[in-house]
Amino acid sequence: MISKLPKYLAVFSLMWLFVISCSPQHQQSTFANAGPVAQQQSNLYYLMFWIAALIFILVQGALIFALLNFRRREKPIPGSDFTVPDIPPKQVHGNTKLEIIWTIIPALILIVIAVPTVRIIYETYEPPENSDPLEVVAMGHQWWWEFRYPDEGIVTANELYVPTDRPVRVTLQSQDVIHSFWVPQIAGKKDTVPGNTNTMWLQVDEPGNYSGQCAEFCGVAHARMRFRVIAEEEADFNNWLESMKTPPKMDTSEGYGLFLAHCSMCHSIDSYNNGSYEKELTMQDERWDDWYFNQEESVRVSAPNLTHLGIRTMLAAGQKDMTKENLIAWIKDPSEFKRGTRMQSVASVYKGGPAKLEDYEIEAIADYLLAQIPEGWGVAKSGGEAEEEEEALVWNTPEEHGEYLFVNQGCAGCHSLNEEEVIVGPSMYGLIDRSGDKVSGLSEEEYIYQSIVYPNEYIVEGYPANVMPQIFINLSEEELQALVSYLKTIK
Ligand code: CUA
Repeated sequence: MISKLPKYLAVFSLMWLFVISCSPQHQQSTFANAGPVAQQQSNLYYLMFWIAALIFILVQGALIFALLNFRRREKPIPGSDFTVPDIPPKQVHGNTKLEIIWTIIPALILIVIAVPTVRIIYETYEPPENSDPLEVVAMGHQWWWEFRYPDEGIVTANELYVPTDRPVRVTLQSQDVIHSFWVPQIAGKKDTVPGNTNTMWLQVDEPGNYSGQCAEFCGVAHARMRFRVIAEEEADFNNWLESMKTPPKMDTSEGYGLFLAHCSMCHSIDSYNNGSYEKELTMQDERWDDWYFNQEESVRVSAPNLTHLGIRTMLAAGQKDMTKENLIAWIKDPSEFKRGTRMQSVASVYKGGPAKLEDYEIEAIADYLLAQIPEGWGVAKSGGEAEEEEEALVWNTPEEHGEYLFVNQGCAGCHSLNEEEVIVGPSMYGLIDRSGDKVSGLSEEEYIYQSIVYPNEYIVEGYPANVMPQIFINLSEEELQALVSYLKTIK
């Protein structure tokens, strides 16, 4: 008995593990229902659980009763001290009446379970009628979530803001493989399937953060494909909607240039602009196609939208908290942080290893990203902050202005100024001599101008397309002219 003790202890502690995993205190417990959909799914679960528990007790009870009462026993021979072995009981085969009963009973149980199951399955597809749901598209990617608000023109990633007490219709899609959208306390699971659209809905009763998780094995980082539902009272939610359409306090720090040069091929950062929603959807498809059809050479792949990253609470799809320290570690060596991420195998700045950037440059990018906070965000809550005066920049000549833009818009991150060095794109050395007869009918200035605004139409031989960010169309005419003036001076 003593020697068996460790074995019992091991079994007991394993059972204990199972039991605590059911605790409603756990943030991914399906027992801590926080909305009507989860509540309904729980009710169905409890119905089945108690029916199963009753059957278990009846069957086990009958088994134990039979074991004890009909076990083989020795019988004493009357008038002597001897016993004889028991004679086997009468053996019976088949009983029509019993067989009919134990066929009908399970059939009835199945009906009792099936009716509410089918009803609830259908009810989870669409929000209740006349309920004015919020429309959200949840798009699964390896290994992160893209959330789109088509009626609001907002795209974000990994953190889904919803209002409380209002149904949210979630349209489920995937760009690559099958994932599954699951917020244990609120609703789920339902698969996101490439080429097929599923729908479900959810509703949250109380403001708070609710943990979500991809629930379908989708590759190496499946377990690290988390997300968060952030539920807010209607007023706070509307404030968030507005904030997402408000530009950040503009920050043209060094980090901005570095970001444009190394990160902006895959990550959009300015989706607060009008009309950027459609642009982002198209870009995301292009990035994906680019990578999918040429995985060896592509330098971009679909990636999370980083607009207003500074207000996010998590990093790398829930891998870590959003802190400067974590962000730096993530930029430096993403695969060390989260195995499977494509960042390192695709982006030119990594080429399979740690970022080819100095520590201060990585810090500058992190500072820039964390400063991506909508203007006025949190001011209402914290009681108002003094506005900092922005220092006005003055340039004496267009060339000087152009040089500033060349560095601060990120051009310098990819284009060197000397003949020998090639960073990512062609060197700017001797640009003016090369551009004279490049395209017939275009002057030198026009050629340079066009190459900035429509980079893909003026690819220099030997360099891949789609590498240069096509965002310079956002520069003002004056800024573009200044850039051209500056580029002309590089001899
Ligand atoms: Cu996506 Cu598992």
